[in-house]
Amino acid sequence: MKEKILVTGGAGYIGSHTCLELLNEGYEVVVVDNLSNASRESLARVEKLTGKTLSFYEVDIMDRAGLADVFHKEKNIAAVVHFAAKKAVGESVENPLEYYQNNITGSLCLCEMMLEHGVSRIVFSSSSTVYGSPETVPVQENARIGATNPYGHSKVMMEQVLMDTGKVNDWDVVILRYFNPVGAHDSGEIGEDPEYPFNLLPYVSQVAAGLREQVAIFGDDYETPDGTCIRDYIHVVDLAKAHVRSLDKILQKPQGLLVYNLGAGRGYSVKEMVEAFRRISGLEIKAVIEPRRSGDVPVSVGDPSKANKDLEWIAEHDLDDMVSSTWKWQTKYPRGYR
Ligand code: NAD
Ligand code: UD1
Repeated sequence: MKEKILVTGGAGYIGSHTCLELLNEGYEVVVVDNLSNASRESLARVEKLTGKTLSFYEVDIMDRAGLADVFHKEKNIAAVVHFAAKKAVGESVENPLEYYQNNITGSLCLCEMMLEHGVSRIVFSSSSTVYGSPETVPVQENARIGATNPYGHSKVMMEQVLMDTGKVNDWDVVILRYFNPVGAHDSGEIGEDPEYPFNLLPYVSQVAAGLREQVAIFGDDYETPDGTCIRDYIHVVDLAKAHVRSLDKILQKPQGLLVYNLGAGRGYSVKEMVEAFRRISGLEIKAVIEPRRSGDVPVSVGDPSKANKDLEWIAEHDLDDMVSSTWKWQTKYPRGYR
């Protein structure tokens, strides 16, 4: 058995896929999740798929005593992978305090616990949202930071907290800036299970499944080849593997601060995504053009070459894999984990 890894938010979408890869790679996994946006069932399926067990604590990372208890019970935590956060941009604009409370206070509490218990390695879930509207694409890690909403600000702040804390305490800090995570595990057993699908692919998937009537394409008058926004979609299994690579690297030898873009490095437009879903599902999928959604940037594509080189990692799943795995999960479990 390899080292023990504490995964916050491990029952969630990206967390559950990462727990699966960690178990498959022989790591011991301890999950802390308050189940505010997840079901315990995701981890039951991870255990079934891997034939291995993990430890689960239903604890809120803002609950100091609860978290302390986990660090006491689970001795020898070698590293933390920190997913736990609220992530709906619109909601963060409506209710910033709730977002800062959860994402900042929770993370600070976690960092304090790490300091108290001598845990000095952390992999942090950041987002391409920290680049705001990038001046050039594909965007590199040293581009100007400029988030445009409270969710994004919470990611920028936590990156800074980790940089400052890591520097003075000799931590190994890996900041992973995800572009647009999509897809599901190839088995169709675990996937994204949103209460309401704000993101494009889960929405299209629910329209294909007949749960919603039509897809609204938010704007077709952008300065892009077909007028719709372009995003760098990345398969969740590729993302999960990048976390394992990051851990392998910092557990092998001290690295200090590492910052990586995690994307496929190529973009697809909204229309291309809808078209791909039509092709793969064989269904019509009604789509209508609606006005632009406020806050959307025309093009967001990342340059993943630093992660490709340093982590010896590359996004292996293509567009068809992203769409077909989403569709498999949707048809196998139309009501998600419910
Ligand atoms: P998710 O909501 O599925 O997972 C987050 C998990 O954290 C959930 O299981 C939730 O119950 C848990 N959680 C939230 N607040 C908590 C708290 N205070 N204490 C304990 N558990 C808590 O989201 P996800 O898509 O898996 O995202 C994981 C991370 O990646 C988040 O930090 C998110 O901001 C970041 N991220 C996600 C995307 C995306 O599109 N999915 C893009 C960029 C970055
Ligand atoms: C959004 C967030 C981002 C977050 C990411 C994952 C904003 C501005 N950005 O990214 O911070 O990290 O989700 O949670 O909210 N679209 C439609 N119709 C739909 C849904 C989306 O046309 O029903 C379009 C959007 O306008 C966008 C593209 O599809 O151009 C992708 O949208 P989405 O999946 O929501 O991701 P982002 O907006 O890129």
